Amino acid sequence: MTKDTVTYRFPEGFWWGSATSATQTEGATHRDGKGKNIWDHWYEVEPSRFFQGVGPQDTSQFYERYKEDIQLMKEVGHNSFRFSISWSRLIPDGRGEVNPKGVEFYNNVIDELLGQGIEPFVNLFHFDMPMELQKIGGWANREVVDAYEAYAKTCFERFGDRVKKWFTHNEPIVPVEGGYLYDFHYPNEVDFEKAIQVGYHTVLSSAKAIRAYKQLNQGGKIGIILNLTPSYPRSNHPADLKAAKIADAFFNRSFLDPSVKGEFPEELVQILKEEGFMPIIEEEDLEIIRQHTVDLLGVNYYQPRRVKAKETLPNPDAPFMPERYFDHYAMPGRKMNVHRGWEIYEKGIYDILINLKEHYGNIECFISENGMGVEGEEKFRDENGVIHDDYRIEFIQDHLKWVHRAIQEGSNVKGYHLWTFMDNWSWANAYKNRYGLVSVNLDKNGERTIKKSGKWYKTLSENNGF
Ligand code: BG6
Repeated sequence: MTKDTVTYRFPEGFWWGSATSATQTEGATHRDGKGKNIWDHWYEVEPSRFFQGVGPQDTSQFYERYKEDIQLMKEVGHNSFRFSISWSRLIPDGRGEVNPKGVEFYNNVIDELLGQGIEPFVNLFHFDMPMELQKIGGWANREVVDAYEAYAKTCFERFGDRVKKWFTHNEPIVPVEGGYLYDFHYPNEVDFEKAIQVGYHTVLSSAKAIRAYKQLNQGGKIGIILNLTPSYPRSNHPADLKAAKIADAFFNRSFLDPSVKGEFPEELVQILKEEGFMPIIEEEDLEIIRQHTVDLLGVNYYQPRRVKAKETLPNPDAPFMPERYFDHYAMPGRKMNVHRGWEIYEKGIYDILINLKEHYGNIECFISENGMGVEGEEKFRDENGVIHDDYRIEFIQDHLKWVHRAIQEGSNVKGYHLWTFMDNWSWANAYKNRYGLVSVNLDKNGERTIKKSGKWYKTLSENNGF
């Protein structure tokens, strides 16, 4: 591909990069003063919940190998990179003393990135509640909001001279779903009332972190990263349309509206009131949320949500779930990522961007995650060690075509970050599905090799298009 053959060209300065998180890459879970978080704890008490019994101590060793990895980022054409700070590495008990070794590590990572000409995008919370705070209830306890605000402030004060893109949370709905509704994160509770309180406190924590950031006047931008799943009704029948609207309010607008508009969606508030699940809200909270909205929105997009009206009456004795109002269904004949069980619907990315343009003031945004997890990629490795992942290149291109179209129609999207830079440990799925531009060979002590997609990604970034 040469510059002349570029069909889809992106605006000057487009952010090309990828995203990771601390727990999924750092390893060194018990080193240099790091405190335990819920993943370290859950693995200790229930290792069988993790694919092949592999826990967070066995991640891709970014803690030791960050220099080598940042060099590789350069080689796959990154001009920006998102990682998260591990709260329990920086402040082992979640509040109180700061760990100097934690400060040193993140300083090193930030300086190394900047030295390579890669802009650090830093996220404060990626599913990793410090265990000492989980013991007092985690996000269900309002004290944790204060602890988080203090932690966020510490990060701004220590690193904000160099970091100019901050994110308060990654996919804040996931700990709500995983920890309090559908049992895929610790503490594995099924409790709708608590889930709502947890979600509410997370929204409040984000607004308070934004307030703290603005007070410091560091001249950067602060946002949030949300996983948006456009909600498509089965038909135009009013019952299906209503079902899709409610699913959208629960799973997208619950965080999107307060983050961007400073208010909760009326449809959701109405349901919570009717069902008696309104969270505990203190007097000044709603004003804080109203005043401290994001400058920048990260959009993680993997799959759409297909929704239909309920066909059977909900069992009144079953625990309350959002699904009391709608059913999910799989559309027959759709392209699927069979490894992950997710529908691949490229146009969804465009629909999100146009929705942001039309209904959210065309907020500045970027694609902060999009990617394809594949099982058994080793079989595509050639004699030189390179994995031939043409399907990943195709996946990225197919999504980028829709991003490109959204830009032509006026979307304020500023970049594309892939999930992820190198194969990493994925929560309970551990190393089952690989997402990286760079492979990590677990049989060879984590040896890194750039995949075919990584080489292609470099040309994508160099040509600012494809
Ligand atoms: C996002 C998360 O939900 O998707 C990542 O921000 C995660 O942490 C990624 O790894 C891919 O999902 P999974 O479950 O296949 O790892």
